[in-house]
Amino acid sequence: MSSVDIGIDLGTANTIITIGGKGIVVDEPSVVAYDKKKHQVLAVGAEAYKMLGRTPEYIIAVKPLKDGVISDNDTAEAMVAAFIRKVSSSMMLKPRIILCVPSLITDVENRAVIEAALSAGARKVFIIKEPIAALIGAGVDISKAKGAMVVDIGGGTTDIAVTSFNGIVQDTSIKMAGNKLDEAIIKYISAKYKIIIGEKTAEQAKMQIANVFDPDENKKMIVKGRHLLRGLPQSLEISEVDIYEAVIDHVNEIIAGVKNVLERTPPELVGDILASGIVLTGGGALLNGLDKLIQKVIGAPCYVADDALKCVAKGVEAAFNLSDELLDGFEKISLYRYK
Ligand SMILES: Nc1ncnc2c1ncn2[C@@H]1O[C@H](COP(=O)(O)OP(=O)(O)O)[C@@H](O)[C@H]1O
Ligand SMILES: [Mg+2]
Repeated sequence: MSSVDIGIDLGTANTIITIGGKGIVVDEPSVVAYDKKKHQVLAVGAEAYKMLGRTPEYIIAVKPLKDGVISDNDTAEAMVAAFIRKVSSSMMLKPRIILCVPSLITDVENRAVIEAALSAGARKVFIIKEPIAALIGAGVDISKAKGAMVVDIGGGTTDIAVTSFNGIVQDTSIKMAGNKLDEAIIKYISAKYKIIIGEKTAEQAKMQIANVFDPDENKKMIVKGRHLLRGLPQSLEISEVDIYEAVIDHVNEIIAGVKNVLERTPPELVGDILASGIVLTGGGALLNGLDKLIQKVIGAPCYVADDALKCVAKGVEAAFNLSDELLDGFEKISLYRYK
């Protein structure tokens, strides 16, 4: 038997779990399927994802953190508990758990997921702030008295922060991220071409032919949807320009958030950021052309971190070795406070 460290990046779109020494053991959608009659969790992650929109009345398959706010404490708590059960074995001593949760969640919601970790047998539960984890995972040394800036774009929320000396100096969290871009693409295609496409199709188009910097009308793809008036299936060719027009206002909102945080940042730290650059993490960082657009509008270098989707999870895992150094990004939750 050995002591175990479990790291959980509880994202609005994806949950990534690491185990000390083993690395990533779970990387699955943040979805839970729950039987309301039996009060039982039927499935979590990829298995539950397949059930979305396909369940009978007494079963619910939901994304409890969809917009960065837990709409239902019970399902969020059940999902966390089920994920932890999935990775723990009877051989494990009570684990230490570090949780990284969306920064927009309320204290009550936060407590619900901490409860889930505690009832799963955790010896200690820590909470780490998302931007701190993202920067550590991106390989940025945040321990110096030097400004660093991260923009973590997930499914439901974008977290923007400036850090120095292991702490957050300025930050904001906005409900503008990947999901809203997908919705905007659906709306745009429906208004312009009178064709309704599904969420997954919209997301695929965003991944394949987005270009928010210099869109090319000759770069195209074919999508399938249903004609708004005739109701029948129909294929349609769309271009980078379509996706650009669909998402650009939303993307500009994210950039306005970056500007806003920079405006509140002390000049010395702004100087550091101008030298070292703005780091983009999370799945939304992969939006084609976003780094170039931010660089142009803000006037500071900007780059996408390696393995952007996994930065937070990697940072959470690394944090077990840094727990003495980190200040306000890392809060120890005492057991007695919650039991
Ligand atoms: N290549 C890509 N281009 C644009 N968006 C992407 C790409 N890959 C993933 N995404 C988006 O990233 C989001 C998920 O990112 P993630 O960091 O896992 O979110 P969260 O931390 O909220 O769970 C989704 O909205 C997804 O559509
Ligand atoms: Mg995330």
